[in-house]
Amino acid sequence: MLSVSLTSRSWAFVFLVISAICALFTPIAAVKHENFKTCAQSGFCKRNRAFADKASELSSTWESPYRLDPTSITFDNGKLSGTVLKKINAAGEEVKLPLTISFLESGTARVTLDEEKRQKGEIELRNESKARKERYNEAEDWAIVGGLEPSTGAAISADADEGTTKVVYGPGGKFQAVIRHSPVGIDFRRDGQTQVRLNGEGLLNMEHWRPKVDKPEGEEKPEEPPAIPFEDDTSLWEESFGGNTDSKPRGPESVGLDITFPGFEHVYGIPEHASSLSLKQTRGGEGNYDEPYRLYNADVFEYLMDSPMTLYGAVPFMQAHKKDSTVGVFWLNGAETWVDIIKSKSTANALSMGVAGHTDTKTHWFSESGLLDVFVFLGPEPKDVIKSYSELTGYTQLPQEFSVGYHQCRWNYVTDDDVIDVDRKMDKFNIPYDVIWLDIEYTHEKKYFTWDPLTFPKTEEMHKKLDEHDRKLVAIIDPHIKNVPDYPIIEEMRSKGLAAKTKDGSDYEGWCWPGSSYWVDTFNPASIEWWKSLFRYETFKGTFHNTFIWNDMNEPSVFNGPETTMPKDNLHYGNWEHRDVHNINGMTFHNATFQAMVERKKGEVRRPFILTRSFYSGSQRLGAMWTGDNQARWDHLAASIPMTLNQGISGFPFAGADVGGFFGNPEKDLLTRWYQAGIFYPFMRGHAHIDTRRREPYLAGSPYTEIITQALRIRYSLLPAWYTAFHEASVSGAPIIRPNYYVHPGDEKGFAIDDQLYIGETGLLAKPVTTEGATSTDIYIADDEPYFDYFDYTIYQGKGHHKIDVPLEKIPLLMQGGHIIPRRDRPRRSSSLMKYDPYTLVVVLGKDGKASGELYVDDGDTYDYLEGASIHRRFLFDTETNALTSIDIGTSGPKTPAYLKDQAKVRVEKVIIVGAPDEWSGKSEVFVSEEGAKESQRRRAVEMAWFAGPKGKANYAVVRDPKVSITKGWKIDFA
Ligand SMILES: *[C@@H]1O[C@H](CO)[C@@H](O)[C@H](O)[C@H]1NC(C)=O
Ligand SMILES: *[C@@H]1O[C@H](CO)[C@@H](O)[C@H](O)[C@H]1NC(C)=O
Repeated sequence: MLSVSLTSRSWAFVFLVISAICALFTPIAAVKHENFKTCAQSGFCKRNRAFADKASELSSTWESPYRLDPTSITFDNGKLSGTVLKKINAAGEEVKLPLTISFLESGTARVTLDEEKRQKGEIELRNESKARKERYNEAEDWAIVGGLEPSTGAAISADADEGTTKVVYGPGGKFQAVIRHSPVGIDFRRDGQTQVRLNGEGLLNMEHWRPKVDKPEGEEKPEEPPAIPFEDDTSLWEESFGGNTDSKPRGPESVGLDITFPGFEHVYGIPEHASSLSLKQTRGGEGNYDEPYRLYNADVFEYLMDSPMTLYGAVPFMQAHKKDSTVGVFWLNGAETWVDIIKSKSTANALSMGVAGHTDTKTHWFSESGLLDVFVFLGPEPKDVIKSYSELTGYTQLPQEFSVGYHQCRWNYVTDDDVIDVDRKMDKFNIPYDVIWLDIEYTHEKKYFTWDPLTFPKTEEMHKKLDEHDRKLVAIIDPHIKNVPDYPIIEEMRSKGLAAKTKDGSDYEGWCWPGSSYWVDTFNPASIEWWKSLFRYETFKGTFHNTFIWNDMNEPSVFNGPETTMPKDNLHYGNWEHRDVHNINGMTFHNATFQAMVERKKGEVRRPFILTRSFYSGSQRLGAMWTGDNQARWDHLAASIPMTLNQGISGFPFAGADVGGFFGNPEKDLLTRWYQAGIFYPFMRGHAHIDTRRREPYLAGSPYTEIITQALRIRYSLLPAWYTAFHEASVSGAPIIRPNYYVHPGDEKGFAIDDQLYIGETGLLAKPVTTEGATSTDIYIADDEPYFDYFDYTIYQGKGHHKIDVPLEKIPLLMQGGHIIPRRDRPRRSSSLMKYDPYTLVVVLGKDGKASGELYVDDGDTYDYLEGASIHRRFLFDTETNALTSIDIGTSGPKTPAYLKDQAKVRVEKVIIVGAPDEWSGKSEVFVSEEGAKESQRRRAVEMAWFAGPKGKANYAVVRDPKVSITKGWKIDFA
């Protein structure tokens, strides 16, 4: 949803302005750049860049003023502790910075640096601030859920060079941390090669506390030059932007560090940005950005394409990749953060360092406040890095299965009759969908937890109608609570002291959709308790078992706040400044709603589904995200692919963009192509702004409606494959849609490819059409497996680009040889109605004649799967036995038998073998044996038909109704 800056206190005026501005928007307006800071407008960003400039100007004579006192080093239980000393003036005065380097059982290393004076509270705050004195040290309480077990094998090694300490750790003792004492720095090595280097460029910067020395009144004495030139900055003590002044009671307190990946040419991650998957350089030059990538969650509607500008969410996790090596870093900090990226010719002596690549990627990270807290992952594969990161921040929630279907949304379905009408029309046109959504207009005058009595008087009837086809309703609930009398929610929140506070400790009032509002402070455990009480069916009247929730505006968006959010000197629970926790804020609200949905009714234990706009590391545990307020333009469609891929490799794969584009009216071919691309978003929702024309798929007319419906049918038929991929993400952190480098980590040519994607482990490779008027597209194949067109089995083989013709109805989708894809081909109105439908298995033979694949199934709704109520099978086609087998790879538990009984009748109704060998041409039957079958049924003959492929297309064979149960082991013999 969009936001605008408002200062007036008159609601009437607010609405007038909003509607006037809305009218202006479509379709040419773009983001209001001037509402958001550039690096030069952000004091600490400017200071840290100036620091880097100084270091590079002085080059070899530059020396980082930080040293590790070797006598302070201790090592115990996988953790090295010591004191870093920062020289703060020419006289050699030093401040103490406690350092820890923890080596974790998983092979991850964690480096933290704090500041003794602030830690001990031996500082003074200005402006009578009530804020905490310490550097913010609770980010881990929100973001980290596991993986912190100390390594039992890590040990200090005796063979360290002079002036260094060496720790050997990791699996098989293959990792080393070489800690240089002066200036302090750490090289992380795998198999003797440095993979990640901290402070190699000497940009470590921890702005220590100092008192503000005011010039005595009237005296003209020239100021002493500052000890460190780049700290001579007016932004140290106070900062103004867009009419708001940040009082900065703790003075300057930023943390910065350079992190070099020697020999690595590509870095990925740090969402959310509308940028390429392989991140660009940020210090100018042709094709590069001038600004660092920024992470400061904000309501940046109609955002710019190809930009490092901040968006709605932040995941400060980056991976570096080169041929056959992937490493990563996670910068755990909740404050405003910027990241500069520079690539340079590798300076490392390739022989002595054993560095393989020719390029070094140097990154420079800085945050406004908080601890320095960095996790280092040494891979060596993409899946290892993502797994280690996910162990810390949590795996993706295994979602409600319906939420993997198609979601129909707009701002707004205006009445309950409107909802029922859309539902009916979707049925009339045989368009499958699972969820219809309500934006803010359903509420009574923007008061959440109420329904407009005029437009939504029949909430129960509406929900019942949707339930007839097992469909759901998602309603929006935002964190701003309307400031009006006689609204019990605001009264309770304020009287219980649960609102976010100003710097003076009074409740913070600002402007959002309802006009004057207060914000629930979900850092406060008491707020979460209270929030839980609001979602019970008996308190949130008009909601039912098929109501789910959407959390929007949780950056938080504040129309009249600096950069459309809260002032940084606002206070949250525990008197932490908003500055410290800004990027985490959205996740705490999402979490409060999650906790509330779990407890809607005593005894009802179901998985919540909650969409969030703002997010942080860990939000993947709580639901889905979407890429915010995009536009109905081809370039926005194109950008959605790298953005969604980036979410996937950054641990939060349940992601998608608004299908059709939020602002503006898409032409029909754009809308159609967007649906064809949208079926490859893990989260697929059509959404539109209030000022756009209606665009439900049935309105497009022929042939568009039919083409869109066909695309949606492909999504629905592949739901078993999608859900299996979600399950994998929920146990391994693996992305649901995957970029080329992840699937082919050794294929250098594909490292920057970000316009095509693989779905999970299925071998399905899609290249969505994202350009206007395209008649053909090039798809990149990274290996020498045969790839088959999904629809007609045309064969594409050979490394490199292959041309595919793409008339409007064509979706470029290939199947990589070697995989078995589970499908459900019977068209249904919603996913839940497919629960007992039979399966089709598509066996796509690889160049060695083999294939394998997986299927995961559970009730898609409860947590019974944690007690064994699931089916997890591996299908294998083997050339030695010439047989297709189904093998149980699930974990059983107390609820297994009941679930298997429930699913016993669900069978495989068809097996298609793509690339079936010529030798089968005369065959008309195969033999089926199933576990537990009666003697007479031990070896049943079943009909098979073989079809010769015309030129350029593969042969295929079809086994008709082998009648094997999805719950059992079986074998189909082709010999
Ligand atoms: C902070 O206090 C100083 C005086 O100590 C005053 O000049 C300044 O205006 C105050 N700033 C804010 C934002 O209140
Ligand atoms: C979520 O809420 C629970 C329950 O209050 C709390 O224990 C947990 O720390 C919260 N986590 C996040 C990420 O907000």
